Formats: sequence, C-alpha cells, structure tokens
Amino acid sequence: MSGATDAGEREIPIDVLTSTDARLASLPCLAAESVDAYFGANRVVRDVSFQLRAGEVTAIIGPSGCGKSTLLRCLNRMHETVPGARVEGEVRFEGSDIYGRGVSAISVRRHIGMVFQRPTPFPTMSIRDNVAAGFKVMPRNERPSRVDREAFVEHALRRAGLWDEVKDRLHESAVALSGGQQQRLCIARALATSPSVLLLDEPTASLDPLSTQRVEELVYELRDQVTIIIVTHNMQQAGRISDRTAFMLAGELIEYGSTNAMFTTPSDPRTEAYITGRFG
Ligand SMILES: Nc1ncnc2c1ncn2[C@@H]1O[C@H](COP(=O)(O)OP(=O)(O)OP(=O)(O)O)[C@@H](O)[C@H]1O
Ligand SMILES: [Mg+2]
Repeated sequence: MSGATDAGEREIPIDVLTSTDARLASLPCLAAESVDAYFGANRVVRDVSFQLRAGEVTAIIGPSGCGKSTLLRCLNRMHETVPGARVEGEVRFEGSDIYGRGVSAISVRRHIGMVFQRPTPFPTMSIRDNVAAGFKVMPRNERPSRVDREAFVEHALRRAGLWDEVKDRLHESAVALSGGQQQRLCIARALATSPSVLLLDEPTASLDPLSTQRVEELVYELRDQVTIIIVTHNMQQAGRISDRTAFMLAGELIEYGSTNAMFTTPSDPRTEAYITGRFG
C-alpha cells in the first residue's frame, strides 16, 4: 500500500525493491545486520546478525526478557509502533533493507507476517471476515477480486489446517472457536496475504497439548512454502520443528546454527548451560 511518509516522501512497497527470481535465489530470504533495538535509552537487542535461508524453520530460544520478542518485532517493523522505541542496523528482506528510506511498513508486514502468543482474532468479526481482513494490507490491485475472495478465504483456511472444522460455520463469531482454533485462524489471517516469512511468537504457549501438536504439524506442513521463525520456551518443541536454532541471552545472539548440532554439541558454554536447564 503506498502513501506519504512523515517526511512527505512517496512510500515504496518493499516488493518493488526486490528484483528477478535468479537474483532472489542467490539471496538469503531474511538477513539481520548489526541490529540494535531500544526502548528509550534501554538497548534490549544488541548487535544481532544472522541470515535465514528460504524454506527453513528457525527457533529462537532464551530466558525470559532476553529480547526474543523484540528481535522478532524488529524483523517486520512492529517494534517501531511502540512510542520511544527504535531500531538501528539493517534488516534485509530478499536483499532489500526493510528500513530503507521511504519503504512502507505496511508492505513489509504483508510479506513478513506475525502471529502472537495469545490468539488475537478480531472479536466482533466472523471467522470468514477475520481471514478476509488480511487482504486489507495488500495493495488494492493485488487484493483478490470480489469473485475470487471466497476461494482465497478457503485457501488460507485450508493452509492453516482449519477449513474442515469451520467450513459450515464461516459466519459465526471468531470467538466461538476454541483457543487452538483461534490461533490457527490467526495463522490463516497471516497467510491470507501470501507472506514469504511468518514470525510466530510463542504461538502455542497458551494452548493445550493437542492444539499445540496441531500447530506444530501445521508449521511442519508450511515449511516448504513459508520461511518460519518461531520463538519458544519449549526446548522439545524447538528440537521437533526447527532446522536451525538461535540462542539469545541479555539481548545478544550467542549462538545460531543447526538445531541438531546446537542440542548435541553446542559451541558456547552459555548455550549448553541453558539447554541443559542450568538456568533460565
Ligand atoms: N513495551 C516495552 N517498553 C519498555 N521495555 C520493554 C517493552 N517490552 C519489552 N521491554 C523490555 O525489553 C526487554 C526484552 O523484552 P522481550 O519482550 O523482547 O523479551 P522476551 O525474550 O520475549 O521475554 P519472554 O520470554 O518473557 O517473552 C526486557 O527487558 C523487557 O522488560
Ligand atoms: Mg517474548
């Protein structure tokens, strides 16, 4: 979606900045370069750099307050929505800096979607309208036409593994769904804009074991289509569903590598102390 920035410039959709398929194939899907995040004068994310390959699931682990959610929110420009908060460094989506001059935050969030710990369906909207609300962040010329809209809603609900459970009650309120179903509805809403990256901040923390399993299966099914970053306190979950794991401590990225290697032969003693339960 385009418009004017505070500085009065034209806002640039991030997809305009990306180039040919061949170039994209050689680029990391998402890369952070020396990212610092502040709340006022408090620097809570410190000099974080990493590169994510397309189609991988990355888990972010670390003790409470170490900056996992803040880092995640820097990756789709949600951090800047908090008054007094700011980001330094670079975040590149398919090679383009999402903080580049004039880049539209809305277009960034359309390509890099987010789901939170507590399911956040719009409570006054129906199941169907919650998914269709996702289309509103798309540029008008890319939104599904009126004719196609129901098929797109169905497609997003199918991808979120919820279609069979809701197809006969699409016009009921979203809050009539169980917590696990509401969370999958939020995932469907995020998928409605066909994002390349999905940021999941402890998406199963408020769910029962069966609903958790369903969301984990969903992450597994989506892995070929969307690059996923999932924050979790559950080490078994990180081990089950991620290809790579990032361990954070006091705002720093201590270690980032293959999940298997990190859980068997961590290279930093602080990672080992954390994953063996000696603190956190
Ligand atoms: N809105 C805010 N205003 C000021 N400080 C904040 C705000 N949100 C978070 N912080 C601070 O930033 C630091 C990192 O918080 P963050 O929420 O990113 O941690 P986290 O690793 O996600 O923790 P948890 O595992 O408990 O969710 C903490 O010191 C926290 O107190
Ligand atoms: Mg958090």
